[in-house]
Amino acid sequence: MTIQSMTVTEARNSTRSCCERPKKVKTKLVIGGLVCLVLLSALGGFLIGRADYRNSRFYEPPDPVDPLPPSPSWLHVFKRAAVCTDAPPCSDIGRHILSINGSAVDATLAAMFCNGLLNQQSMGLGGGFFMTVYIKEEEKAYTVIARETAPSAATQDMFHGNFDKSHHGPLSVGVPGELRGMWAAHQRWGKLPWPTLIKPTLEFCKYGYTISKAMYDGLSSAPYIKNDLHLSKTYVNEDGVFRKAGTIVKPSEDLCRTLERIALNGGDDLYNGSVARDLVKDLKEVGSIITAQDLRNYQPKITEPLVVPLRDGDTLFTPPPPSSGLILANILNILNGYNYTADNIKGINNTVLTYHQIIEAFKYAYSTRTRLGDADFLDLEELIRNVTDPEYGTETRLKINDKSTNNSAEYYGATLYNPPDSGTAHISVIGYNGDAVSMTSSINYYFGAGFSTSRTGIVMNNVMDDFSSPGITNYFGIKPSPANFIAPHKRPLSSMSPSIIVDRNGNAKLVIGASGGTKITTAVALDIVNGLRAKGHSMERYRDRGTIICALFRNKTAIYGNADFRKGGDVSGMD
Ligand SMILES: *[C@@H]1O[C@H](CO)[C@@H](O)[C@H](O)[C@H]1NC(C)=O
Ligand SMILES: *[C@@H]1O[C@H](CO)[C@@H](O)[C@H](O)[C@H]1NC(C)=O
Ligand SMILES: *[C@@H]1O[C@H](CO)[C@@H](O)[C@H](O)[C@H]1NC(C)=O
Ligand SMILES: *[C@@H]1O[C@H](CO)[C@@H](O)[C@H](O)[C@H]1NC(C)=O
Ligand SMILES: *[C@@H]1O[C@H](CO)[C@@H](O)[C@H](O)[C@H]1NC(C)=O
Ligand SMILES: *[C@@H]1O[C@H](CO)[C@@H](O)[C@H](O)[C@H]1NC(C)=O
Ligand SMILES: *[C@@H]1O[C@H](CO)[C@@H](O)[C@H](O)[C@H]1NC(C)=O
Repeated sequence: MTIQSMTVTEARNSTRSCCERPKKVKTKLVIGGLVCLVLLSALGGFLIGRADYRNSRFYEPPDPVDPLPPSPSWLHVFKRAAVCTDAPPCSDIGRHILSINGSAVDATLAAMFCNGLLNQQSMGLGGGFFMTVYIKEEEKAYTVIARETAPSAATQDMFHGNFDKSHHGPLSVGVPGELRGMWAAHQRWGKLPWPTLIKPTLEFCKYGYTISKAMYDGLSSAPYIKNDLHLSKTYVNEDGVFRKAGTIVKPSEDLCRTLERIALNGGDDLYNGSVARDLVKDLKEVGSIITAQDLRNYQPKITEPLVVPLRDGDTLFTPPPPSSGLILANILNILNGYNYTADNIKGINNTVLTYHQIIEAFKYAYSTRTRLGDADFLDLEELIRNVTDPEYGTETRLKINDKSTNNSAEYYGATLYNPPDSGTAHISVIGYNGDAVSMTSSINYYFGAGFSTSRTGIVMNNVMDDFSSPGITNYFGIKPSPANFIAPHKRPLSSMSPSIIVDRNGNAKLVIGASGGTKITTAVALDIVNGLRAKGHSMERYRDRGTIICALFRNKTAIYGNADFRKGGDVSGMD
């Protein structure tokens, strides 16, 4: 088990008066920080796999414990509505949509179109998403599952133990769910006409957009996209190097034409319309097994979220499997009984103990992950009932030893392995009327399968890599999990878990989700790291951009928003 570096830090040095954190916010945020910590953890993948202590030396960098500088993320405060995304222009587009009386879902969809260009490395029309929608008037929450599915010709053993084919190229592509999911959400909760949601993004086709640091890093870790017809035109200079962060670029003409057609013809166009015809031709030419019928038959699901009662009448809404919402529910259920207050992180000893307990809860919860997969293919009802039962939470909490940890995965009940997943993008929205949306979207790896299709310009996902496969054991020799084996039309397990916490009065209080893959990102100072080491935890400093948060917190006074600076995100809103 590894704890990784720190994000929940103070913005003390910020000189921007607009964004200074009011003094009193601190304790609330500290509690919020704990919640974030817990939420973030739910996005982790193979932490249990990493619980093997023998190998820990290989992971430990020589200087793991210098505290990071204070976070430059600004706390934003708005009175009435707010939008948080990974790209500032997309937050502004979301805000604009709210300002012309769009619903929270409209704002989310418009920001998604935008983010599909500005964070093209992480999400887009070739991917899929999970969305939690809270409708204030009904005091009810819904989940949209638009996760990709395995093509009908997919088989359990289609990769024959060959990692490369599941990582990159045509066989790694799942049937995309993004656009039909967006279309379904718009049909249900949209107020503005569909083209209005795409129009602001089409402006980037005229004027271009700026390569962010996050995108540049994505490019650098996916050098093979230099061979892609469209992506190379947009992102590669004449001399064959990637354009630097800060460069203004234009999306490919084909992608812009695809967006125009979708604006005109609606969200089914990519499934049984003109875009679908082009997409199928392209995919066939490169050797994909996705057929016209796979696209036509793809359906997103609008369903009930998991509902977890928390302390003080709060309720957590999070998507069911194949998202990792159940892991989050499991963790919060275990931790609920500790009755944490700000005192639990006052002083080194208390803080160490609190983190220790949280990590132990993570370890128990992750052992559940190895039994998860697509709920349509498994009977998960009893498991879901069990791990969300308050009694189970108490039992597990009582098993936690405050003095030490155990570094054997079996101790926590994990015997199987699921692959980690990566690169995602998150959007949180609170609308004027109190509706809220938490949405996480992904194409899996940076630039997904590593190519865009020639006629449409859409970057395809490599989500088939999120299934487990017979014969592919993980680094620690833990066996793959049959619950997540490939089957036609099945959705692979995901670490995404966009969530909303609603208070006892039915007000959305915390809208949160995170992007990134399998890292826990927590605030850990040197003394605490040492304290946790003393309890037997293996500690590793995580140097890259791990799990990125985009959170909105609301109380009677205002809406407080913070986007993680490491991905260059921002919050936009209205007073
Ligand atoms: C709302 O939260 C902020 C920040 O924590 C705090 O300053 C304010 O007093 C809170 N308002 C209410 C009504 O609790
Ligand atoms: C938004 O709704 C308000 C109240 O119904 C109305 O006054 C305003 O004109 C609307 N704005 C737009 C741009 O439609
Ligand atoms: C495409 O599918 C949608 C939804 O199933 C249906 O309403 C529409 O008529 C279909 N369009 C065509 C051109 O078949
Ligand atoms: C938390 O609060 C509940 C109810 O007030 C109480 O029964 C329980 O013992 C408390 N737990 C701890 C660890 O103090
Ligand atoms: C913290 O714990 C250490 C080791 O158990 C102990 O020596 C120290 O006195 C404690 N500090 C405080 C402030 O309680
Ligand atoms: C649920 O809990 C019961 C009682 O502890 C146990 O017998 C059963 O095996 C559990 N079921 C699952 C699917 O974990
Ligand atoms: C850790 O768990 C393993 C496997 O369950 C067990 O054999 C071992 O005794 C445990 N170690 C400690 C220190 O509790």
